[in-house]
Amino acid sequence: MQNVSARLMTPIFILMKKWHVELLESSREILADKGKEGLGDICALLKSEAPQYDWVGFYWMNDAEQTLRLGAYSGASTEHVLIPYGKGICGQVALSGRALLVPDVHAETNYLACSTTTQSELVVPIFQNDRCIGQIDIDSHTLHAFTGEDQRFLEYLSGLVSEVMS
Ligand code: SME
Repeated sequence: MQNVSARLMTPIFILMKKWHVELLESSREILADKGKEGLGDICALLKSEAPQYDWVGFYWMNDAEQTLRLGAYSGASTEHVLIPYGKGICGQVALSGRALLVPDVHAETNYLACSTTTQSELVVPIFQNDRCIGQIDIDSHTLHAFTGEDQRFLEYLSGLVSEVMS
């Protein structure tokens, strides 16, 4: 049993939808039970339960090689298993350490297409001890699928995931 903090009843939750809070609670339980081995379950959970989340995955930073490597994911397989820092949405987040919400991927010049069906994307970094160690990447087949609420939800999830990464 992992020690994943049960800090779910804080004021930030009044800024989230009910399904966001429920998915955070389920994710917290998965992480407490399985640790980082549960990341695939979280991807599958978000893909099946979160509206308009059509591809959900984790990328992990390798500062020595300046690349992101794909970890657990749920959705169509992708050729972008290794992404250089700076390339695409994920590569930009690797350099900036800031979330990037892209309402229409066709309007983005620095973008790596995983699938022709993807219309919008949201990438949120994962920090540990002030160092960016990875990111959560969500693709949607819907234009303008994501809002600030999704970003807050994923930032909170990123904090829970960070607690089980060694
Ligand atoms: N679209 C991403 C690449 C990863 S796929 O979405 C799975 C990007 O531009 O970095």
